[in-house]
Amino acid sequence: MSRKAILEALSAAEGFLSGEDLSRRLGISRSAIWKHIVALRQEGYAIDAHTRLGYKLRSRSAYLLPEEVEPLLKTKRFGRHYHFYASLPSTNRTAKELARQGAPEGTVVLAEEQTEGRGRLGRGWYSPPGLGIYFTMILRPTVPLGLAPQVTLLTSVAVCKALETVAGVQPQIKWPNDVLLNGKKFCGTLTELNAEMEAVNYLVVGTGINVNQSAGDFPDAVAAVATSVHATTGEKVDRARLLAAVLYFFEADYDYWLASGFDRLRAEWLERAAGMGTTVRVIAGQQEWVGKAEDIDSDGALLVRDSGGKLRRLISGEVSLRPEGGQGYDFGR
Ligand code: BTN
Repeated sequence: MSRKAILEALSAAEGFLSGEDLSRRLGISRSAIWKHIVALRQEGYAIDAHTRLGYKLRSRSAYLLPEEVEPLLKTKRFGRHYHFYASLPSTNRTAKELARQGAPEGTVVLAEEQTEGRGRLGRGWYSPPGLGIYFTMILRPTVPLGLAPQVTLLTSVAVCKALETVAGVQPQIKWPNDVLLNGKKFCGTLTELNAEMEAVNYLVVGTGINVNQSAGDFPDAVAAVATSVHATTGEKVDRARLLAAVLYFFEADYDYWLASGFDRLRAEWLERAAGMGTTVRVIAGQQEWVGKAEDIDSDGALLVRDSGGKLRRLISGEVSLRPEGGQGYDFGR
């Protein structure tokens, strides 16, 4: 608490604030103040210290700390319980532990880097520190099990809306949840479900967004298919603003979905869909086949017409927009 109060006092001050002044205001010793200053510097705040004048905040932290994200939130629930970690194996893994312990809906787990970031279909998610946003939301929707996958589609739509607002770009979505800029992937979502019989206990929805990576930052294995917002636009994006915007759009759409169902959101997903109406290669387990992506079903399944004219429903697996084959998306580390 004192650390937060010191930060607030330094943010509000015009120039230097003396150690004596801070210690009086907060009711703690000058050496305790100094310890907090050291800790704040370690968290990325640039604070000048002068023997006579005291302390001055030169620049705020670029980390997605609660102090940086909370003031930007426009949500009621999402992000209001916010667990920040400098490094985690995987935010989905930690979110599952928190969900098991009863963490409320809207809880967000975020890490500046992941050492074992996980993607769909057993892949990894490359999660270098400070450049992307790696976070997981805990949801407790009271919906039938079969509708839960729609949440992943909602997340992709929220990411698109946030990017449209914050960065002025128009991403596209490749079923089920790859978000693309200029045909390359910069965002993906891994949703994991815990259910009993027909009832959802909780969902953890983990999203990775490549934000400020340069083209050269990606490992060779993914460079051909991966991009970031910065690599596409040339602009650096304020990650805290982007995260707050994703949570804002997600909360609004999620609440709408709970109250009114998927129809409007399905339309919003389709407006942004990549490859709809074109020939795609379907990769489902060991099977691969080519067909025409026609629509998504009311439950979010992809509808693809095969060469025999039969409309087939895809509830998992993936599609490649290059029907002739070629490199798929593999974000392995
Ligand atoms: C995919 O497209 O394959 C899904 C990628 C999901 C990555 C995110 S990063 C935050 C969260 N934690 C993880 O370990 N994975 C998800």
